[in-house]
Amino acid sequence: MEQRRILLAVTGGIAAYKAPELVRTLRRAGNAVRCAMTPNAVQFVAPLTLQAVSGQAVRTQLFDPVEEGGIDHIALADWADLVVVAPATANILAKLAHGLADDLVSTVALATRAPMLVAPAMNLNMWLHPATQNNMTTLRQRGVRIIGPESGELACGWDGEGRMAEPQAIADAAAWVAGTRALAGDVVLVTASGTREPVDAVRYLGNRSSGKMGFAVAAEAARRGASVVLVSGPATLRTPAGVRRIDVETALEMREAVLAELPEATIVVKAAAVADFRVARPEAGKIRKEELPPDSGPTLDLVRNPDILAEICRTPGNRVVIGFAAETGDLVASARRKLERKGCDLMVANDVSREGSGFDSDTNAVVFVWPGGDVEELPCLSKTEVAAQILDRVAKIRGGNG
Ligand SMILES: Cc1cc2nc3c(=O)[nH]c(=O)nc-3n(C[C@H](O)[C@H](O)[C@H](O)COP(=O)(O)O)c2cc1C
Repeated sequence: MEQRRILLAVTGGIAAYKAPELVRTLRRAGNAVRCAMTPNAVQFVAPLTLQAVSGQAVRTQLFDPVEEGGIDHIALADWADLVVVAPATANILAKLAHGLADDLVSTVALATRAPMLVAPAMNLNMWLHPATQNNMTTLRQRGVRIIGPESGELACGWDGEGRMAEPQAIADAAAWVAGTRALAGDVVLVTASGTREPVDAVRYLGNRSSGKMGFAVAAEAARRGASVVLVSGPATLRTPAGVRRIDVETALEMREAVLAELPEATIVVKAAAVADFRVARPEAGKIRKEELPPDSGPTLDLVRNPDILAEICRTPGNRVVIGFAAETGDLVASARRKLERKGCDLMVANDVSREGSGFDSDTNAVVFVWPGGDVEELPCLSKTEVAAQILDRVAKIRGGNG
């Protein structure tokens, strides 16, 4: 495995005594490891021990001039390819869920753009408390990966769920989260956001797509080592790290950009909400109501836009093509018809009328509709998690295609 930079954040639970073993396991797997601790974690394991096994200075305080003068907290957040919080106390899970930043670990966790893996460890009742469970749901929906806890005898004397996963299991999960270079060598072409079809010099026909789903796919593909081109309609989102972005406005511009990039692409994910129709003859100037007969509006003559997804599917080439179907009503039936009409490898259908799903939401409840009729219904997940699930299916599609 390629060397990854892992920041191990240790918080104040009994299982912190396993942190040195976790550092050794992560390093044996070829990772560079730095450790950050909460002040409470220092009660359970000595910073000097973690320094000795990691071979790096350990940070424990946010406001220590000596520590901050070494690798400062933002540099530490930027350094990491992956942040592993192990053990993760109930307290840090709550702080992560709510965005608190009142010590070194929680501040770095908020400042980093690296993916995060948490290994909860606590008393059974703390784990089962609705507050903790709600926090876990929040973190899961945000794309934080979770390993454990396991069931067994707990240090507090209780028996049940709450034991931290074993260091080897955490290291394996870290390798999966940070090291999924599964798409190295692939060129992923992603479309995102909606298009704007001009009516006149100031007005347009548009739709509610924010681009969040397509941007999440682009970010996840880049994280998995792909070379990523993102063709986006107007969006206010930050371009994900390592992604080449081409901004377009209309469906015709999107088609042109997509077809220009298509020959290189090995995977295409068409998450954009492309307008089906455009105004046949947009006015060069502004349509003025004063120039129209009283009480009447202009009549817009609409024509069909080209079907970019169908065109991609017809273009010869050995590539995986994944389409999106934003539907209301009978989701699966509509998606199945669209899949058959266009001939892509997988259709991701979402009911845009449902709360917590579709346009501008941070979460999405999607259904994968496969050629041949199989249907996979996913729970409501963060768009990052949905992106990961979509890209996980590429291997299945390739396996299925031999
Ligand atoms: C002996 C002892 C063991 C503890 N073990 C745990 C634990 O395993 N998990 C947990 O969530 N909290 C545990 N706690 C409580 C935390 O240490 C406490 O909530 C603390 O505020 C956590 O701080 P931190 O998250 O900033 O490290 C323990 C406390 C004591 C005194």
